[in-house]
Parts: sequence; C-alpha cells; structure tokens
Amino acid sequence: MILVTGGAGYIGSHTVKALKKAGFQPLIFDNFSTGHRAFIKGTPAFEGDICNSDDLARAFAEYPIDGVLHFAGRALVGESIEKPELYYETNLHGGLSLLNAMKTCGVKFLIFSSSCATYGTPQQVPISEDHAQNPINPYGDSKLAFERAMRWFHEAHGLRYLSLRYFNAAGADAEGEFGEDHDPETHLIPLVLKAAAGRHPEVKILGTDYPTPDGTCVRDYIHVTDLASAHVMGLEALMGGRVESQAINLGTGSGCSVREVIEAARRITGKDFFARETARRPGDPPALIAAVDRAKKVLGWTAVESGLDNIIRSAWNWASKTNQAW
Ligand code: UFG
Repeated sequence: MILVTGGAGYIGSHTVKALKKAGFQPLIFDNFSTGHRAFIKGTPAFEGDICNSDDLARAFAEYPIDGVLHFAGRALVGESIEKPELYYETNLHGGLSLLNAMKTCGVKFLIFSSSCATYGTPQQVPISEDHAQNPINPYGDSKLAFERAMRWFHEAHGLRYLSLRYFNAAGADAEGEFGEDHDPETHLIPLVLKAAAGRHPEVKILGTDYPTPDGTCVRDYIHVTDLASAHVMGLEALMGGRVESQAINLGTGSGCSVREVIEAARRITGKDFFARETARRPGDPPALIAAVDRAKKVLGWTAVESGLDNIIRSAWNWASKTNQAW
C-alpha cells in the first residue's frame, strides 16, 4: 500500500484518485484540519497527525506500507511569516516524525510535496533545479529544511526520494470530484472565481508596478491533475529503480500574469466582475516560471492539462457543481 499523508487535501485527493487508476492501493493519512472527509470517497483512511509519532507508528503497524507520498503540511505564506513556529512544527518536525517512522519500518520510498517557494526571489527565470535556494518566508524555508533532511536520510539510511517542487497548483478534477477549497482562501484563481460567482464584490490585483510585461506578477500555473500524474510516474520510477533521489520542478515552463488570469476568467465564465488595483503583497516575487527539462528527461512527464483556459474551466465547473461554500 502507499501511505498518502494529506490524502484528503487539495493535491493529495487528486493524486489518490490517480494512484487508484494506476493500480496502486492508497491509504489516506490525514488529521482533517484542512483536508475534507468528503474527499475520501471509499479509499481506506487513517485519522492521524504527522506530528504524533504514535499515530504514525500505528498506521505503519496496521497496514503493509511500501512507499509514502507526503502532502501533509501547512501552505500559507502570509501565515508562515506571522507564526513561523507552526511551519517548523508541522512541515519540519512532522516530516521528521514521518522519516523516523519510515526508517523504523524499513520503508524506503518517499515522494515529497516541495515548492518553488524554496528558491525565494529568483535570479533568473525559468528556474532550474540547480538555482540557488534562498527562501524568503518560513513556509519556503520549512520545505527546504525537509528537503535537506531527506538528502541526509538518503546518505545515512538509504532513503529513496523525489522532492517535487510545484509551481502554482490550480484547477480541479475533470469529473468534478475534487477541487480547491481552502479556508481562508488566499490563492488567485479561486478568489477570481468567487468574484465571478458574485460571492466576493471584487478581486484585488496585488501590485501593478512589477517589471513584467503588464506590470502584474507572472506565475507558472500547473493543473492539479498534471501534478497527480507526475506523482504516479515518480513513484513507479522510484520503486522500479529507474530514477535517482533528487529534486524535480513541476510546472509548464511558461507564465501568465494576474491580468491574464482575470481576463481568461471573464471570458470562460461569461461573468464580469470588478478588479481593484492595489499595492503589492509583501514577499511576492515578480515572476516564477519553471525550467521543466528535468521532469521530462527523468520521468518522461510533461504538463498536458495545464493551459490556463483548461485550468479555469475545470475550477469553475467544480465550483459550480459543488456550490462549495460560495
Ligand atoms: N494575487 C492577486 N490577488 C489576490 C491573490 C493573489 O493579485 O487576491 C497575485 C499574487 O500577488 C501573485 C499571484 O496572484 O502574484 C498568485 O498568487 P497566489 O497566492 O495564488 O500564489 P503564490 O504565487 O503566492 O504561490 C506561492 C508559491 C507557491 C506556494 C504557495 C503557497 O508560488 O509555491 O505560495 O500558498 F505553494
């Protein structure tokens, strides 16, 4: 079985579905602090916390775990600046508890949800995996700290790992089973769609004076379904001994500005809404775009679902279908 920490969360739930399609048997491990019980959908699930080693020990004792996909963690940049202790506790200490549980039980294979936030403000884009890592917030730093721990567990204990550095995860399951539902929501695409749905009076454009073509931030939006397939391909390659332990960027290799996202949302939803130009949000780099050659070379993976239109259409379909909290 494959233990999926955070398997009831946004990216975890999509990946559990992809694992099942590929013939794996996932076991969701989640404390449901931000994960959704409605996302379990019949998959075996264990309620537990990665920060509690007894919970981890029980899960490893009760189920025959062959490998782990580790999604559980905190992921709000702003919150991480105000409460760094939460980020080192969950993302680093919780991660270490997981590594220790794996070591005790002889489980060797691990795929970790890392982030482009580990690079900080890039010196050049596209950003390759060898780019310097200088995170500018505790969220990115806690992810980097865990990456480093994995490398040393690899050296000392033979851990086999992939650290998948996501760029901007977005979109929803094509069949409308899962989607993005954070509380509070801080991400651009769900906020734009809330404005399109009339649930929010406006969307804010956070900064219009960036050194980018239209003055707004550029991001590499990657469809969550593409992220899910990268995990499955990574797991197969890792367990099949076809790939070395390493970090791999997951993105598309091209970026969209905030204004482009807003325009696409207006076109696809057919709804007009107000976009207010405001000041920059502290800590936002002007442009984050992935160099994607390694993912292609090492995993044979490229993004196929990730056009902006497809991302927004799928997110809109899911939101309309579930009428989730909007
Ligand atoms: N933005 C707006 N208005 C909003 C919200 C966001 O203009 O209301 C802009 C931001 O300034 C940014 C872009 O839209 O330029 C995307 O912002 P998101 O908050 O959606 O995502 P981030 O780029 O901040 O994502 C970052 C890292 C990810 C990390 C994530 C964690 O790039 O690697 O934070 O939440 F996972």
